[in-house]
Amino acid sequence: MNEIQRYLIAVSDLDRRGLVALLDAAETYLAPDAATAYRSRLAESAVALVFCEPSTRTRASFELAAVRLGADVIVLDEQLSSTVKGETLADTLTTLAAMGIRFFVVRHGENGIMAAVAAELPARCALVSAGEGSRAHPTQGLLDALTIRRHRPELERLTVAIVGDVSHSRVARSTATALSLLGVGAIRLIGPPAFLPPAGELPGEATSSLEQGLENADVVIALRLQNERMGRGESPDITAYRERYGLTVERLGRLARPDCLLLHPGPVNWGVELSYELAAWPQCLIREQVRNGLAVRMAVFAWLEDVLRAGL
Ligand code: NCD
Repeated sequence: MNEIQRYLIAVSDLDRRGLVALLDAAETYLAPDAATAYRSRLAESAVALVFCEPSTRTRASFELAAVRLGADVIVLDEQLSSTVKGETLADTLTTLAAMGIRFFVVRHGENGIMAAVAAELPARCALVSAGEGSRAHPTQGLLDALTIRRHRPELERLTVAIVGDVSHSRVARSTATALSLLGVGAIRLIGPPAFLPPAGELPGEATSSLEQGLENADVVIALRLQNERMGRGESPDITAYRERYGLTVERLGRLARPDCLLLHPGPVNWGVELSYELAAWPQCLIREQVRNGLAVRMAVFAWLEDVLRAGL
């Protein structure tokens, strides 16, 4: 890991060794005794969750992770997000830091805000991004990587296809970066031309053809259309989108490998990017992603606790 170790703002804050170490640690937090066995790990620490954008699973998962490690947890629902600017958020966090809070988990819609806030935080504090604009969602990248690695450990042989609104997706950025760091064989980015990122912006080969992109795919990661991040007139026609890019059991069976795994970060718009029947499809790992997310967040807190302790 590089020198800014008190932060997890993007997957690129980690090197391959650091990433693998976190995934390995997360495996230990998946054990059945992890709900109670680690209650003293963060017992003298307080964690603040500051969410300036909606969240269900990510927030619940960070909160439960902190509780399971024995931390005191406070949750701030900053629904004033549109008016909160960098300095104001930094002010909020430094105020909380003055109360002795050492761990900050922040979700915010503005690209670049995490680095700005990190620069203001006292050295005894750690910052974890729970989603930053369209730029990064590192713990989601980690949990996707963990979910894939648990089922398909020979990562260098894998073809992983990410399908949907890639250009607005912080998940696609973080997951593709994590998979590329881990040496995944091939990454493909599939979506309408308007939703593909500029060439070279994130790892993977981009195509607008679902047929080409899914060919021989071992893992398919579907994304939601993130209308809230689209400019005026950018939202596609839902029916046309579903017809062209919507995934069904039949389509996956015909276009990808027969044993392909299906992931989705949630929330799912059932009937749009995924057909309803896929919810009960045995190869659909959405619930497992959620379970793995809790373990990943426990691993991230425990790692940062060690970093902070070493820095004291
Ligand atoms: C995602 C997010 O907020 O980036 N959800 C999540 O954290 N699991 C994806 C999305 O909003 O579509």
